[in-house]
Amino acid sequence: MKVLLTGGAGYIGSHTCVELINAGHTPVIADNYDNSCPEAVNRIEEITGKKVPVYEIDVCDRKAVDKMFSENDFEAVIHFAGLKAVGESCEIPLRYYQNNLDSTIVLLEAMQKHGVSNFVFSSSATVYGVPETVPLVEGMPTGCTNHKDLSVVLLRYFNPIGAHESGRIGEDPNGIPNNLMPYITQVAAGKLEQLGVFGNDYPTHDGTGVRDYIHVVDLAKAHVKALDYAAQHKGTEIFNIGTGTGYSVLDIVNTFMRVNDLEIPYVIKPRRSGDIAECYANPEKAEKILGWKAEKNLDDMCRDSWNWQSQNKNGYK
Ligand code: UD1
Repeated sequence: MKVLLTGGAGYIGSHTCVELINAGHTPVIADNYDNSCPEAVNRIEEITGKKVPVYEIDVCDRKAVDKMFSENDFEAVIHFAGLKAVGESCEIPLRYYQNNLDSTIVLLEAMQKHGVSNFVFSSSATVYGVPETVPLVEGMPTGCTNHKDLSVVLLRYFNPIGAHESGRIGEDPNGIPNNLMPYITQVAAGKLEQLGVFGNDYPTHDGTGVRDYIHVVDLAKAHVKALDYAAQHKGTEIFNIGTGTGYSVLDIVNTFMRVNDLEIPYVIKPRRSGDIAECYANPEKAEKILGWKAEKNLDDMCRDSWNWQSQNKNGYK
């Protein structure tokens, strides 16, 4: 299938681009490089040996999006282009609503006009808020309405980490990382002094926060399955994309140190506001319906995260 990847130069987009090419699809990227680099596209081409066309546009730009659709016979759209920093979204919520809603509406309009009906959307486990019970299942009220002519798959990502095993593409956050794994890898690289562990008094096995970490290549492969599913079914489906296993912050730190034979100095800090004790998926629906299941384990994730960071000390710069 010829597939438009908005935000295809980003962390999850670039890995998905590689897996789509491996599965015989033809991706086209639209990216304004707001939080990504053109170098990521060079690396995708290097890994796959295939040229990937790029439109350097903002997907909120209706005219540019329409022109791109006119020039390509897309059969599906995977929409990764969005703003996603939780802290910043609390400071400037309207800019987040505007960007994330406008881009989605502009894309859906272009899809309607050009007769494209398959849509895969990057969602997040954050939509579950503070859960009453874990593991989390998809069947909670979501406010999502079905559209009879469209095939929509919403993938609720848990915590993607790791990188392509080549070490050529990976996560490259701007500034000081907010998320755990890039913070750890930058401490390991000597760019940051020590990790702050946000709270050790949660009701978890060691007191630190528990999350469902998933290898980004497994996550990328879930998009390939979602695309196949969308092409064969009408309506809207939601899938949790996680491993089903929760690991604590200290589990991650200890595994990272063991697998990579490195020391990660850390100090216990107060809880970070907005954090919850535990969040992990029940991923059975994705296995049953998409035939997708995470294959990589925490050792793979920790090894591949460090392989990327150690080969690219300053990311793509
Ligand atoms: C966050 C976002 C989520 C996003 C995800 C991307 C929130 C509420 N959610 O999830 O929307 O999809 O990132 O991967 O922010 N931790 C430390 N020290 C650090 C950084 C993190 O101890 O320097 C701890 C946190 O307290 C948490 C765990 O590590 O227990 C994971 O944190 P993080 O990687 O930021 O992900 P989430 O907060 O789960």
